Amino acid sequence: MTPLAVLLRQEAFADADIIRLLGLTDPSDCERLRRAAYDLTTGIIGDKVHYRGIVEFSNRCTLNCRYCGIRRDNPTLDRYQLSMAEIVESAVWAAENRYGSVCLQAGERRDWPFIDFVTECIRLIRARIVSATQPDGASITLSLGEQTLDTYRRWREAAGGADCMRYLLRMETSNPALFAHLHPGGFAHEKGYAARIQALENLRTAGFQVGTGGMIGLPGQTLADLCADLRFYQRIDADMLGMGPYILSQGADMGAEGMMEPAPLLQRALNMLAVARLVLRDVNIAAATALQALAADGRERGIAYGCNIVMPNITPRAVRKAYQLYDNKPCIDDQPTDCSACLEGRIRSMGRRVGWDEWGCSRHFRRRLGLALPDRPSLSAETQAAKSVHVGIPLRRGPARTDPAADLTSATDRSR
Ligand code: 5AD
Ligand code: FES
Repeated sequence: MTPLAVLLRQEAFADADIIRLLGLTDPSDCERLRRAAYDLTTGIIGDKVHYRGIVEFSNRCTLNCRYCGIRRDNPTLDRYQLSMAEIVESAVWAAENRYGSVCLQAGERRDWPFIDFVTECIRLIRARIVSATQPDGASITLSLGEQTLDTYRRWREAAGGADCMRYLLRMETSNPALFAHLHPGGFAHEKGYAARIQALENLRTAGFQVGTGGMIGLPGQTLADLCADLRFYQRIDADMLGMGPYILSQGADMGAEGMMEPAPLLQRALNMLAVARLVLRDVNIAAATALQALAADGRERGIAYGCNIVMPNITPRAVRKAYQLYDNKPCIDDQPTDCSACLEGRIRSMGRRVGWDEWGCSRHFRRRLGLALPDRPSLSAETQAAKSVHVGIPLRRGPARTDPAADLTSATDRSR
């Protein structure tokens, strides 16, 4: 068998190699994998981590995905919908706090009032967020499920001409049988495997930076399935990936199927992130919030394993509890946990920097479109040092925040 050290230096991987890497459990092997992914990330993308402030603006959903805590048939949930003003204000708060990007996420709806509502939100956010530090305004990621090509075009056009629009549409799993099991038939607007792939293609046609991904550790999912997921992301030429561990949700419909034990699940998820970096190289990879449901420093571990994006929750606190996709979701308690400041401390403690005010476009996207690539910043001394640091990252919590606007973090770099 090829020694691990040799395997990790390869630029292309056979399926058998990928499956071997995904299944690593020995701590020193996992550390080697982590180190290879981390070094490739800082080598290709640089030492910056970019924020996308996520606004979970409604938990109303017309679908019934069996894994999902906000599915339509969960009767235990108070349903909410933020007003347009609340959404725009959240986005403006993100910009004032120097996040270069916001993400609008909600349960899936395809009715005209919803489509028009989102169109107007995009228009208003683009109009409101232009400043000296963000002269091109905000970039916006949408995470609003399957829509028609016409709707995707409408939303893309509402943003104006800039290449500022991204869309996250997770495939969830590339295994058609597992996909069908997660999304059973019989509901209005039910999901189909082919429809999901078509939607991803439509997003590309409409001009979005396209993000996809899936859940890791689903009941019945094998390492070969995860390898096939990576091949799928390669095939559709994804610009961004959002992947996280599957976590059981009381409000969902999969309680009887259980979930993996937290420690091996976390390691499997981290391995998947690292192998995704090795295989897909210059894509943006988000450290999913679900990692933090398994370990307090789960997202930082994601960064240590090759992620370069985090999505601090900027949803108004009053409604956060009602957007519980899975149990033990972090940052929803009544105590004002400051996602932004506590994250910056943790990112700095790893020798990385936050890309304040920057869109943080996927390098893969820019390369795909033949756009100029931003210069790769030379790595700071801290980043160089962090290459040899193990992932036992110290947990640092910032001060509790009561007034979001009072939490202006210092500027470090204003370049795009
Ligand atoms: N565990 C982990 N991730 C989940 N999601 C939904 N339910 C769960 C769960 N129980 C993820 C899905 C979806 C994204 C918005 O949240 O992958 O695409
Ligand atoms: Fe709402 Fe799947 S249950 S999108």
